Amino acid sequence: MLTAIALVLCFVHVTFAGVYFYLTWYHRYWDKRGVVTAKPLTLLGTYPGILVNKSRSLILDVQEIYNKYKDKHRAVGTFITRQPQLLILDPALAHEILVDKFSHFRDTITSSFTGHNADDKFVARSPFFSAGEDWKRRRTENVGGLTPNRLKLAFTIWEQSGRKLVEYIERARRQKGDVIETRDLSYRFTADVMADFIWGIDAGSLSGDVGELGAFQKTSTDWTVFAFSSMIRFNKTLVAPIMRKLFKMRFFTKASDEFFLRLTKDAIKLRQGGSGEGRTDYLSHLLQLQERGNTIHDSVGHALTVHLDGYETSGAVLYHMLYSLSEHREEQEKLRSEILDALDANANISYEQLNALPYLDQCVNESLRLTTPIGFFMRICTKPIQLDLGKDKTVDLEPGTTVMVPAFQYHHDDGIYPEASEFKPDRFENGAASAFNKRGCFLPFGDGPRICLGMRVGQLSVKTAILHILSNYLVEQTKKVPMGADTGLGIFLNGDVELKYTKLRK
Ligand code: HEM
Repeated sequence: MLTAIALVLCFVHVTFAGVYFYLTWYHRYWDKRGVVTAKPLTLLGTYPGILVNKSRSLILDVQEIYNKYKDKHRAVGTFITRQPQLLILDPALAHEILVDKFSHFRDTITSSFTGHNADDKFVARSPFFSAGEDWKRRRTENVGGLTPNRLKLAFTIWEQSGRKLVEYIERARRQKGDVIETRDLSYRFTADVMADFIWGIDAGSLSGDVGELGAFQKTSTDWTVFAFSSMIRFNKTLVAPIMRKLFKMRFFTKASDEFFLRLTKDAIKLRQGGSGEGRTDYLSHLLQLQERGNTIHDSVGHALTVHLDGYETSGAVLYHMLYSLSEHREEQEKLRSEILDALDANANISYEQLNALPYLDQCVNESLRLTTPIGFFMRICTKPIQLDLGKDKTVDLEPGTTVMVPAFQYHHDDGIYPEASEFKPDRFENGAASAFNKRGCFLPFGDGPRICLGMRVGQLSVKTAILHILSNYLVEQTKKVPMGADTGLGIFLNGDVELKYTKLRK
């Protein structure tokens, strides 16, 4: 009996010791290389928020480390669960990593989030989740469908959605009053514009009954909610990536995959049958790629790449921007007057004119800075490199080591943007966005060869919606909404965004 108890105790000790050594194996990694280290916790690494995100958040954990070490060091050694990661504190070093030394940091951590479930086939086709040559090919194929010329030819889609948005607001005001929940409104707009651009269909999100959620928007919402929660789940498994294979973890749900496969097949059949013939949109690009050998699965993968951020991320920027403008009446008036001056007698504007409105651009940039929907970029070192850490110190990074560029922290740093928590579009006057970007401290779309490939699409959607809303309504705040909803990639307004829309007298 005693021997049995001794054996059990021995087993328990050995197991605990094994787990402990597994979790702490790399904890002296940065010390050994002479890099200042943010002390990790045994189980949780430097960022407990990854594993216990109910009470903490990764972004806020990064903030603590950033505040403690910034201005003293160019980078600090951290541990993402048990794995060594370099947190880049100096934006100039971030610029080097993303742009000048890109070939040494080509891949992203998200590329390790796919391939654990053979059925999760569409997410694996997104450049956001791809590595190496696959990434290059997929990116090139996607970008071809989003060139400025194609967007210019497709601009009527955005224009029509803008008009439908105003009609929807009018119906909502008549039926339910002037106060409209603006997160819902924003996603209705991005659902409408993306459904038309990608699949050539009317999603019904603006043309259906007020408040009604059609199948397209419902599936899109369920799909993006699952995809963003997957980001959190996959980050948690960094502690033992083997779990991904073991549990056959997937990023997109089976139900959404089936819905979008059916939708893409139907849209292609309709277009081939002559409906919408001659239209230049994303569907026409997908058809051209299929003629050159792409499969229907490739087409769905590309369509969802555009839809994920075209619907979700762009919608998020839009409702945050409307919330900020509702709080800052002076800025709202200034923007409205720029917009009204630019519209012709029929309230039309061209693609080029819309993109050339300076104050609108400043307001969008300021909203992007404050929201930063993708708050950090994790890059994998793909080729050995030596980084200059300042004060005569260097560090040799080996392939496989990861770095984090904390865009959210740069965007909210009072040292870079005085009164950083305030909405002040004037800070982006006279092309300042490009100067901030070159210094590595303005990265709403990332930078370098992996810069957001849908940047123009996102900006076009936000600008079009703002133009139509502000030229028709005064937008006012009815109650404060705190920040605090954590998506795993950023911190968003937490609660209903109820804004009052008053029709302007013309
Ligand atoms: C305003 C809305 C948007 C914001 C703020 C945004 C932000 C970003 C950021 C910060 C990155 C870089 C991530 C990194 O470096 O790791 C990124 C990458 C990406 N974005 Fe966007 N995005 C937006 C809209 C879009 C749209 C509309 C599309 C699709 C048309 C899109 C597709 C992508 C893709 C595919 C990547 C990965 C690119 C690559 O790794 O080569 N985004 N986005």
